[in-house]
Amino acid sequence: MNHSRGFIALVLAPALLGISAACERPANPASSNREPTRTLTQVLSGYEFQSEDTRVLQDDPFANPGMLWVDQGRVLWRSKPAPDAPSCSSCHDKKADSLRGVATRYPTYDAETGTLVNLEGRVNRCREKHQRRSAYAYESTQLLALTAFIAHQSKGMSIKVDIDGPARPFFDSGRTYFYERRGQMNLACHHCHERNIGRMLRGDRLSQGQPTGYPAYRLEWQNLGSLHRRLRFCNLGVRAEPFPAGAPEYVNLELFLAWRAQGLSVDAPAVRR
Ligand code: HEC
Ligand code: HEC
Repeated sequence: MNHSRGFIALVLAPALLGISAACERPANPASSNREPTRTLTQVLSGYEFQSEDTRVLQDDPFANPGMLWVDQGRVLWRSKPAPDAPSCSSCHDKKADSLRGVATRYPTYDAETGTLVNLEGRVNRCREKHQRRSAYAYESTQLLALTAFIAHQSKGMSIKVDIDGPARPFFDSGRTYFYERRGQMNLACHHCHERNIGRMLRGDRLSQGQPTGYPAYRLEWQNLGSLHRRLRFCNLGVRAEPFPAGAPEYVNLELFLAWRAQGLSVDAPAVRR
């Protein structure tokens, strides 16, 4: 662990030290309802930063390990959680194309609870409200399978989240978080994912930190993981205290990331190093 910290400090610090205060946060009145300015001139999926082998694995639906979760999700979708409880499909499949396109709009403001919900939260709301069962734990196989199954239905469709109206304060918090320095390394998300894109960091090529491939199969995890699991790793990487997966802070950040990803399409389940 100490070794990795030293490595980051040595490799990245010289580049990061050159960052002036002016780069800290693009000037933008957070409270305004005008469309905020995007800092990236060209958006690139994390796919572009992966090795050829990993990309081939992602592109082949028979080889992509994430598809195992999609298949599991399809089974869960159709099964009753208990004899007296309806299956997801009994309510949803009546509409012709079911949940195609849904993942492109999340996170979204939920008027009923007055909160911002991501896909995981939305699935769990149906589970509690419509199936009368307790929510699935974050990172549980079931929740990963259902979200992978739903997100995969939007593969190739452009991300388009709503950040206006009641969603705006959540967006603003997520945006602030992205540009704030934190942890013992005193680095913000944008130091790695905007200022150092393309550089190597402990065997990884730094991408733009786009959320479009999640849940994603990470070879290092030998498992599928949610976006929040990835965000926890990024927090730990700078020696900052991570939030629990599913925390509202991460859902806010997720909205900012989804807005920032506009121009990209959903490519879950992605494969990552
Ligand atoms: C010290 C550098 C560093 C910082 C700071 C950092 N990350 Fe990362 N992040 C990484 C590395 C390394 C990876 C894996 C390689 C890649 O995709 O960049 C990664 C991956 C990601 C990914 C997955 C991208 C993909 O396509 O799989 C997202 C999303 C992400 N980071 C978001 C964030 C956010 C949001 C923050 C701030 C809370 C943050 N990161 C802070 C180093 C960092
Ligand atoms: C009894 C019917 C019913 C069942 C069972 C049900 N849902 Fe829903 N679902 C709804 C309704 C109605 C909505 C619209 C929002 C609301 O009223 O909760 C919805 C909304 C959703 C949405 C958001 C769609 C959008 O366009 O934003 C998702 C995703 C979803 N459900 C997934 C699931 C999953 C996964 C399951 C099974 C674990 C499930 N639902 C079970 C009725 C149901």
